[in-house]
Amino acid sequence: MATVISSVEDLNFGLKDLEPMPAPRKVLLVKPTFYTVEYVINPHMKGNIGEVDKIAAQNEWEHLKAGYEEMGLYTHIMSGKRGYPDMVFCANQSLPNITADGKKQVVMGVMHAEQRKGEVPYIEKVFRDSSYEVIHLDEEKFQDFEGMGDALWHFKKRLIWGGYGYRSSKEVYEHISDTFETPVIALELTSEKFYHLDTCMCILNEDTCLIYPQAFTEEGLKLIKCIFPNVIEASKYEAEVLFACNATSVDGKNVFIQQGCIDVNKKLKDAGFKVHEFSTYEYLKSGGSVFCMKMLLW
Ligand code: ARG
Repeated sequence: MATVISSVEDLNFGLKDLEPMPAPRKVLLVKPTFYTVEYVINPHMKGNIGEVDKIAAQNEWEHLKAGYEEMGLYTHIMSGKRGYPDMVFCANQSLPNITADGKKQVVMGVMHAEQRKGEVPYIEKVFRDSSYEVIHLDEEKFQDFEGMGDALWHFKKRLIWGGYGYRSSKEVYEHISDTFETPVIALELTSEKFYHLDTCMCILNEDTCLIYPQAFTEEGLKLIKCIFPNVIEASKYEAEVLFACNATSVDGKNVFIQQGCIDVNKKLKDAGFKVHEFSTYEYLKSGGSVFCMKMLLW
């Protein structure tokens, strides 16, 4: 039975009621060989067509990859595909799950922009080769769903935070909740620059998240605060320009984040996190940073 919560009145569970889930130990990365800004499908890409420094982008990606390896994660590297400059943002084409009895499943995305639709089959192949049950959405019914760009797993808990409004539609979460037997808290996104949930919310551990509050509705903020006892807020500059909320909490302690988020980093350190700064300047030009440059896999 689907459980999609979009108002505090309907919230009939708290953090302590959620089922546990194992943490993923693998990370999928797509080589940036064909990465560039070639079209504009989000406001950050404006003015950046042809402006990517390819060598710098390659170096930034290599550093990030090394970072995951140092953390002891197994990296699964796949080639980029010519004609798909955004494929390096491999958080967007899928949403994987592991069931209570250890079965691996994935719901494939339906990309909102025509330019990105062709990325999905390549990512699907990775899941097929890794023995995931692959589930497709009925594209007549669900016109867009951008995977872990918008649907974020709570840290080690069976709960999905589902953003909607720009790249994913709210209706899809009923289906996902049903398929994964997982409650979903749906959050409406209200600001075009924060077009994916992962641009304005980062789940750091079971009870802490980092958000940019202005990207949510009041009801959304209430829902976030009902579940998370600790909510760290990013400033406009760090959220909008440095993509501070597109950070990744590798293990609930170590946080990977774009360089220079001085205010957020101080708050993270004060809350007991270990901050690892990475340069993703070339990817900010396309509206992405650390979080969306990978897919976590079980
Ligand atoms: N240029 C890409 C797009 O607009 C960037 C995607 C970044 N992904 C993310 N989850 N924020 O689709």
